[in-house]
Amino acid sequence: MALIPTHRPRRNRKSEVIRNMVQETTLSVHDFIYPVFLIEGENKTIEVTSMPGIQRFTADRLLDEIGACVDLGIKSFAPFPSIDDRLKDRLAQESHNPDGLYTRTIAQIKKAFPDVVIMSDVAMDPYSSDGHDGIVDPDSGEILNDATLEVLGQMALAQARAGADIIGPSDMMDGRVAWIRDVLDRNAFSHVSIMSYTAKYASAFYGPFRDALGSAPKKGDKKSYQMNPANRREALRELALDEQEGADMVMIKPALSYLDVIREVRNHTQLPVTAYNVSGEYAMVKAAAQNGWVDGERTMMEVLMSIKRAGADAILTYFAKEAAAVLRRG
Ligand code: PBG
Repeated sequence: MALIPTHRPRRNRKSEVIRNMVQETTLSVHDFIYPVFLIEGENKTIEVTSMPGIQRFTADRLLDEIGACVDLGIKSFAPFPSIDDRLKDRLAQESHNPDGLYTRTIAQIKKAFPDVVIMSDVAMDPYSSDGHDGIVDPDSGEILNDATLEVLGQMALAQARAGADIIGPSDMMDGRVAWIRDVLDRNAFSHVSIMSYTAKYASAFYGPFRDALGSAPKKGDKKSYQMNPANRREALRELALDEQEGADMVMIKPALSYLDVIREVRNHTQLPVTAYNVSGEYAMVKAAAQNGWVDGERTMMEVLMSIKRAGADAILTYFAKEAAAVLRRG
């Protein structure tokens, strides 16, 4: 006897109008924070070989790029600087130079585009001669947590003075959110937000980013401060601490291999949750698309939608400009 199905979920998929009517998650240009790479000099762009379509910009060219993005509706940017090796030292002193490349450029962007939101990066690696996010003890090779907090506080303050709207500590030192909050508040920057890299994993997916900035560790790895990819509960512990310490928004990084962590964090906090769709995730989609192995545009949109479905309110993504163009086209 042939069994006739009594439940037919396909009825809700039978036409585009019905599919749109019951769609649970939507993607909008407002969801995007665009990470952009900054280099010293004038009127120059250099492509990141391992990130097809992504450039490093001199400040003047970055202003043009931001203008083009604003026309597409992208209003939030996360700049990262590529610092000349001669300016790096073990204490990352260039990181809080008020006339440094990074702070100068943030001020220029805010002057040219007052409405644009700048999320600045706090971590020592772009300025550290050791290529680490914290101070390396020259004898033991250990990362010195509490001494690093001093540097991070000065860095955050310099960025706030330059006009940063959101401070994004990506260093994973213990206690940094409370430390930075205190420094900002004591210096009349209580209006400046903190988006904490709450669960940042020691991931292989950061490779192309380190190429772009020349920021790879000279020795060792980042496993004594970034999280073990095997751990999920630990992300909730970091979340509880970041909430206590005063984070305004929390972030999970990377995104694609950590969708379960995004969902877990979403279910445990009332704070906005963001996710960083990192360089290696971008590179994988681009490489496969260039080989004709996947449809690049559809894969990109599916990746971004999945990160939102997992529970992210906003996404840091190198796809921002391309995806904004797709969304505009409708
Ligand atoms: C370092 C930092 C990294 C990224 C953002 N900030 C790399 C790292 O921890 O080595 C990676 C972003 C990406 O891969 O897109 N503070």
